Amino acid sequence: MANPTLLILAGDGIGPEVMGQVKRVIDWFGTKRNLAFDVSEDLVGGAAYDAHGTPLHDDTMAKALAADAVLLGAVGGPKYDALDFSVKPERGLLRLRKEMDLFSNLRPAQCFDALADFSSLKKDVVAGLDIMIVRELTSGVYFGEPRGIFEEGNERVGINTQRYTEGEIDRVARSAFELARRRNKKVCSMEKANVMESGILWREVVQKVRDADYPDIELSHMYADNGAMQLVRAPKQFDVILTDNLFGDILSDCAAMLTGSLGMLPSASLGAPTDTGRPRALYEPVHGSAPDIAGQGKANPIACILSFAMALRYSFDRGDEAARLEAAIETVLADGARTADLMGEEGGTPISTTEMGDAILSALDASL
Ligand code: NAD
Ligand code: IPM
Ligand code: MN
Repeated sequence: MANPTLLILAGDGIGPEVMGQVKRVIDWFGTKRNLAFDVSEDLVGGAAYDAHGTPLHDDTMAKALAADAVLLGAVGGPKYDALDFSVKPERGLLRLRKEMDLFSNLRPAQCFDALADFSSLKKDVVAGLDIMIVRELTSGVYFGEPRGIFEEGNERVGINTQRYTEGEIDRVARSAFELARRRNKKVCSMEKANVMESGILWREVVQKVRDADYPDIELSHMYADNGAMQLVRAPKQFDVILTDNLFGDILSDCAAMLTGSLGMLPSASLGAPTDTGRPRALYEPVHGSAPDIAGQGKANPIACILSFAMALRYSFDRGDEAARLEAAIETVLADGARTADLMGEEGGTPISTTEMGDAILSALDASL
């Protein structure tokens, strides 16, 4: 049987730096675990704009639709700040999400024991934390019409529209309930039904799906602002959090700090199954291109490597090998390996992006 295909879009800033370590990990699984992928690479974001004048070439879009999974690094950076909105690097990523119809974005926040001391929150608040944010990714205010900057009288007005259909809420709710069944059977849905009609509909549809098809799942509802507060007050009260596109963006950055660093948080963006039986899928770290540290070998590659672990689990049905990779990362952290973002106030000498990759590969070797 042919090897599964992976399309790598490393992107901008630290994207290529962290992806360099992921490529070493992919090679390791090919040679040491007989788990080979046909890997191809292409451009996205500012890198694609520089080469083609567009943040995502149509050929790249077609390759992404044809691949068994896409791995993305990060897009954006100050070099592209002045570009017209329609060709900004971020538009390339949003197009991928939309045209691949990746409606369910899984953003796990897990606090590794070795980092519990390092979180900006107290150790007992975060130790052992393991939650999953399910963020709707292809609709809401990110895509709703009308949108734009318009003239109104003698001034301009900026407009974006929060819009959700029942079908869009229904399908992402199902993905959260399915996931909850494989975890602790508990979902907390977050919106602002107190001020937004889209929030009222969201709450209604989520409850209806639960009552009709997932009676075994404990469902609660929370206003998203309270949710943000509860996430830092007592994050372990949650298991699966289901929320919309914009609230999910913000809440997941907030959850990142529970784990110690944005450099630790992976994600999976999943769509409907294709005729291969696999879901359309894109895996990427939650962090961006980190212009402040790009090109210095300082970036933490763990979020991107953990994103590949999610690919092993959700696209290739290799939860066993995903667990091997996650355990290797746990080992190197327990042994004290720290990139600069993981250095606490006590100081010490951080290791580089490549050295973190070296340590993870050694731990993988030791797992055999
Ligand atoms: P960012 O995530 O790039 O950086 C925020 C902070 O976290 C920075 O101080 C950065 O140094 C640090 N950081 C992030 N990832 C890290 C890592 N792996 N290791 C160590 N430190 C890390 O967010 P930003 O600064 O708001 O955005 C910069 C650019 O990235 C913008 O153009 C933004 O649009 C883009 N962005 C892209 C994505 C994506 O591609 N998915 C996500 C978020 C932001
Ligand atoms: C994310 C990012 C993106 C988003 C940007 C870069 C389009 O912040 O993946 O969290 O807002 O969704
Ligand atoms: Mn974000």
